[in-house]
Amino acid sequence: MHQVQLTTPAGACEILVGELLSSRLQMLEQEPVLMIDENVLVQHHDLFEPFRSVIIPSGESYKTLQTVEALYRELVTLETDRSTLMVGVGGGLATDVAGFVASTFLRGTPFGFISTTLLGQVDASIGGKNGVNLDGYKNMVGNIRQPSFVWCDLSLLGTLENREYVSGIAEVIKYGLIWDIPFMDFLEESMEALLKQELSVLEHVVTTSAAIKTDVVQKDEKESDLRKILNFGHTIGHAIERHKGVLHGEAVAVGMVLAARLSHLQGLLTASEVDRVERLALSAGLPVRMKLDPEEIYQNIRKDKKKSGEDVHFVLLKGLGNTIIRPIPLPELKSIVYDLC
Ligand SMILES: NC(=O)c1ccc[n+]([C@@H]2O[C@H](COP(=O)([O-])OP(=O)(O)OC[C@H]3O[C@@H](n4cnc5c(N)ncnc54)[C@H](O)[C@@H]3O)[C@@H](O)[C@H]2O)c1
Repeated sequence: MHQVQLTTPAGACEILVGELLSSRLQMLEQEPVLMIDENVLVQHHDLFEPFRSVIIPSGESYKTLQTVEALYRELVTLETDRSTLMVGVGGGLATDVAGFVASTFLRGTPFGFISTTLLGQVDASIGGKNGVNLDGYKNMVGNIRQPSFVWCDLSLLGTLENREYVSGIAEVIKYGLIWDIPFMDFLEESMEALLKQELSVLEHVVTTSAAIKTDVVQKDEKESDLRKILNFGHTIGHAIERHKGVLHGEAVAVGMVLAARLSHLQGLLTASEVDRVERLALSAGLPVRMKLDPEEIYQNIRKDKKKSGEDVHFVLLKGLGNTIIRPIPLPELKSIVYDLC
């Protein structure tokens, strides 16, 4: 088992990676309430059935304030109080929603996560960002509050649909591209084993990803500066994700390749480095291009940007393993999107 410790002014979080769940569940000091993804409960019924639980419906369309409100009411029915330990169980959707519910219900209860998707284990469950979408726009309502623990049990990934697993690899690749060239080399060498979920490779990949995200979050929990680099590939990725049927990691993979091409257009990345980014994503089985309507993508970015003021802060690669954030005014962004799509 591997451990990564995350400490910020807002709290501390112990991230554990391995095959650990059944023993850890027995060690909980108090009876928790699970807020659990409906499919995870079906797939791992024996493990979670003994606990009190409320169900989080699966699917991005349920990542809403309506779902949050329904969960609050169920917690009232269960007579939970401010000391009740809430455990979000599921992928990024369930932990984003559960973290928001737990950190706002009764002005905040103790909470932790059991992350059950690759994307959740390497990214979504770490860093304390909780929240829901509003009118289809991603993560418009939420907060930053750290869970006290994140358990990443690798054996749970065995029941995940292959397409969902591959989607998680996009965020793994992102860490190599923005932060860690040796990790990128490792991914190039080990992609086949990673796709087969070979335990030692998976353990290394999840632990390294968790450690990189932790490093960044500890330096800038509130995303005033450095943490923005984690959005590499996400500006366009989020705009693509609004297309029905595209998974988060798939949209991010296309977004990363477009961001790499933009980095090349801006003289920051060589053509062969762009090829390397594309090859790595392809080797995982991720899409690297899609038929996109530039106007629609631009309008989606524009609306998504409501969160950040006038300019779009675009994360670009300044060589592999290194980033630069360029504020791009909207009119300029429009012509860039038309060039790229
Ligand atoms: N908070 C953050 O920092 C952050 C970062 C990245 C992404 N996210 C969010 O994460 C979400 C995407 O997360 P995701 O990719 O994990 O998707 P997800 O949570 O929607 O899970 C994907 C699918 O897999 C099912 N599932 C989950 N675990 C399973 C298991 N072990 N076995 C079988 N089925 C399982 C779910 O029911 C769902 O159908 C998005 O809402 C995104 O905005 C948040």
